[in-house]
Amino acid sequence: MSINITVAKTAGFCFGVKNAMTQAEKLAENGGGYTLGQLIHNPFAIKELEKKGVFAIDTLDEAKDGKTVIIRSHGVGQAVYDELKRQNIPYIDATCPKVVKIHKIVEEESAKGANVLIAGDPNHPEVKGIMGHCHKNVKVWVVNSLDDIESLVKNEKSFVHNALIFLSQTTGKLSKWIEYKKIVKKHCTNLKIFDTICKATTCRQTEAEDLASKCDLMIVVGGRESSNTAKLADISKKYCKTFFTESAEALPVAEIKAVLSDLAKKSSDINIGITAGASTPYGIIKEVHRFMSEITKNDEMDIDFMAEVDKTFKRVYIGNRVKAYVVAVNNTEAIVDIGTKHSGYIPADELTATPGLLPKDVVKPGDEIECVVTNINDQDGIVYLSKKRVDAAAGLEKLADACNNNTTVTGIVTSVVKGGVIVTCEGSRVFVPASHTGVSRGRRGDQPENPEELAKKLETLLKKEVKLKIIEVSEGRGKVVGSIKNAAKEESDALKEKFWSEIEVGKKYVGEVKSMESYGVFVDLGGVDGMVHSSELTWNRIKHPKEVVSVGDKLEVYVKSYDPEKKRVSLGAKNPDDNPWTKFLAEFAVGDVVKVQVVSITPFGAFAQIIPGVDGLIHISQISLDRVTNVAQYLTVGQVVEAKITEVDEEKSRVSLSIKELLEESAGDEEEAAEEETEGTEEAAE
Ligand code: F3S
Repeated sequence: MSINITVAKTAGFCFGVKNAMTQAEKLAENGGGYTLGQLIHNPFAIKELEKKGVFAIDTLDEAKDGKTVIIRSHGVGQAVYDELKRQNIPYIDATCPKVVKIHKIVEEESAKGANVLIAGDPNHPEVKGIMGHCHKNVKVWVVNSLDDIESLVKNEKSFVHNALIFLSQTTGKLSKWIEYKKIVKKHCTNLKIFDTICKATTCRQTEAEDLASKCDLMIVVGGRESSNTAKLADISKKYCKTFFTESAEALPVAEIKAVLSDLAKKSSDINIGITAGASTPYGIIKEVHRFMSEITKNDEMDIDFMAEVDKTFKRVYIGNRVKAYVVAVNNTEAIVDIGTKHSGYIPADELTATPGLLPKDVVKPGDEIECVVTNINDQDGIVYLSKKRVDAAAGLEKLADACNNNTTVTGIVTSVVKGGVIVTCEGSRVFVPASHTGVSRGRRGDQPENPEELAKKLETLLKKEVKLKIIEVSEGRGKVVGSIKNAAKEESDALKEKFWSEIEVGKKYVGEVKSMESYGVFVDLGGVDGMVHSSELTWNRIKHPKEVVSVGDKLEVYVKSYDPEKKRVSLGAKNPDDNPWTKFLAEFAVGDVVKVQVVSITPFGAFAQIIPGVDGLIHISQISLDRVTNVAQYLTVGQVVEAKITEVDEEKSRVSLSIKELLEESAGDEEEAAEEETEGTEEAAE
């Protein structure tokens, strides 16, 4: 004799009910409150909630003490939300997302003028809630049988001719819905149909039918008030002997034993199926199993019922990786279905390692994600999970690859810790020691480091995206060490290599002035620095580079010469179009008399500016008609004098000037004039 027990995979809480129940559990932990109507159609679960301080109320007037009210998964009409706001009552909306979807459909379609036909029980709270979202100017009908529809066809003209939408209560029976659709389609031409029976309901009914067809005995567990449980019992009855029970204690022991005895006479194999409605808690289903085991155990039937039963439960353990279907998302968590009897919760800080993200930024209802079980409360049927840890584990593999292959990864600096920073990268925390962050440590000689100063410097990296090399991964301990400095060095080396492979004399660059000395400036050309001598910065004579540039300026330069061995680049920054020498040659020639300004005095003469950028030398021998031994006795810096251009050396860009020649010419002229005057006087005397 063998007895097989199969528990329907879909038995028990659907995700909408799981969510509502967990919200109630949380409310109980936070001081209790109310549910508007009974949260689920199960008297045992309701009693348990009452013990924990969560009470069902029929009207909002009963919630005058400021405690929170939960709107159950069935949902409510718009008027209830309006009243909650008017009375300023805090509330948690646990309306199932699938019901919310129906509310949106009827709101939008009825606002456009379509009448609404709902297949369902007119007294069911979900149906009442849906009606409460229809526009007041349209007609709303609820049908619960084919006769109801026929009656509308006969008696309501607008039913047939007006625009109409047709949808079902989420827990409607699929076979009935199919019949309803056929007949409504036949009569109404301006019709839109929305298939709103919940998949959880359809699956539960289909599985119940399948299971019952293979079983000799079915036990359907759920509240007497629960319409979806009643439907499961109806389905099962078509195939085999079915017992509908609210709890293990309510099972008719004698009757079941009699049925089993009869079955044993007919066959050596007995198949028992167990299913439960969407509002049946996990604990009650389990209790029914335990009870069944006890009442059927006898010497003739040597069966370990609990072992059989346990086989049919999908178990989870802490550390299990599971696939989770996201049911709902709020500001503090994601509610997920993991395909067991448990309600699954992923707290916000277990969703992602990236700081500042809300749960809705990470997942959305309908997503299928992989998680790890972090905690289980079997008694309440709650499982806590973490997506972050699964991501981190996957990330750890990627980081180990990056470490082995020396590839660069990108992350965000999320915190400053003792001795370094933490970078969130591939969902994992990577420690970057201060010496690998690339910030200047500011330590001089053997002076000890000032931790406060270092922390301040490290804080400048916070929230920045950085590239890093992974230098150590300890998978067992989940410890990862990275280096921003190594990644930066690799990048800089690559830039340098590219630079040296492409450099040529005359090539132009735009670089940033990185540092300044009295003799010139150093310009970053993209990983390599080049030097612009002061004389190459401007055509004008300057004493210090700061007269024309500052550190941080962008400077257009060209390569004058380079030495790849010594890694030296000599740059020029003067624009050839502004060359004053060209201008000088175009405007001046030997013999011209020019006004010049003395710019410097030397032992061998004085330099004087002819035009900006072109100076001429007044040699010591060309300063005066006298024999000059000390230039400074004749000329001073800044003095403006007239001089004659006596020589131009284009090749060497040199100009010679002479004051003396002008003085000689002037003396000659005077002599000539004096002679002419003397001659004139003599002629007159004769
Ligand atoms: Fe929602 Fe479907 Fe359950 S509509 S409440 S998940 S049966």
